[in-house]
Amino acid sequence: MFEIDPDIRKAKTLHADFYTDPAYFELSKEKIFARSWQFLARADDIEGVTPFVILPGMFDEPVITVKTSEWISCLSNVCTHRGKILVEEPCHADLIRCPYHGRRFLLSGKMISMPEFEDVEDFPSEADDLKMLPFAERQGFLFASLEPVDAFEAFVGDVAERFADDEYDASALRLTDRREYEIDAHWALYCENYLEGFHIPYVHKALNAVVDYGSYTTETFRFSSLQTGLGDDGKVAARYLFIFPNLMFNFYPWGISVNVVRPVSPSKTVVEFLTYVRDESLMEKGAGADLHAVELEDEAVVESVQKGIRSRFYKHGRYSPTREQGTHHFHRLIAEFMK
Ligand code: FES
Ligand SMILES: [Fe+2]
Repeated sequence: MFEIDPDIRKAKTLHADFYTDPAYFELSKEKIFARSWQFLARADDIEGVTPFVILPGMFDEPVITVKTSEWISCLSNVCTHRGKILVEEPCHADLIRCPYHGRRFLLSGKMISMPEFEDVEDFPSEADDLKMLPFAERQGFLFASLEPVDAFEAFVGDVAERFADDEYDASALRLTDRREYEIDAHWALYCENYLEGFHIPYVHKALNAVVDYGSYTTETFRFSSLQTGLGDDGKVAARYLFIFPNLMFNFYPWGISVNVVRPVSPSKTVVEFLTYVRDESLMEKGAGADLHAVELEDEAVVESVQKGIRSRFYKHGRYSPTREQGTHHFHRLIAEFMK
């Protein structure tokens, strides 16, 4: 079931059951999503104590980020007494007090006091502190994980080297737009469509006019892949960085569009689009213009595939060795994580 030949010329694509069988969707929660990294926000966009939910619709895991002048961390947002959510709104605080029975925690997560608990044995213990999540910051982007298979550095260190000489300066980015698209398709179908430019001439006629399809390249790394499209002028028109399993960082001359793919059910996915702009004047030009139209074209084709893979006559396909390296790499990682 989860065998994808490392040789793309011999390999068959992921079996249709992966997308259609609800049991695999359930399994993928722990096997894939709990063990990888999720994007939270940019450090510039949070202050003090900020509540977040990790993967709404899948885990709904309540967490908070804590930002002080010296450090940022990510803690569980669930009181260790009887489970009340601690922080409902972003706030500035020196400590966290549970609104239910008054348990208090330091910003480090350590529990420091609890009324009416004098006679409780073996209290407090470590289990009464708020759990601190594995957390990472890279170029001002913040990430957390539930139980990562590897450090965030291992997820992006190799591909980041590829960016070393580049002009992409993350410091001046401003969040200007945030929107969600709901798609009637399995999350992996959305991702694997993103991972190949093969469909651009067929599905995205307008985009095809500004990207030189012949020069489109895909490089794969341990847990990520990078697609690069050149413009007619021979300059990089767009870079598409995918971090397994569901994060997309799209680099355009104007800034970065971040897409977070959130599985909701085997046939429903929400994709969050976060627009971080550096230079607004460049937004109407090139591959990074009119992302909304491109998104609708992608959604239509992915929703059509969702219907197609249910067919009794479809089990899996084959890959183009020159155009589908990113999709092959993605399927290999799914197979690896699902084992
Ligand atoms: S649930 Fe937090 S103090 Fe009781
Ligand atoms: Fe597309």
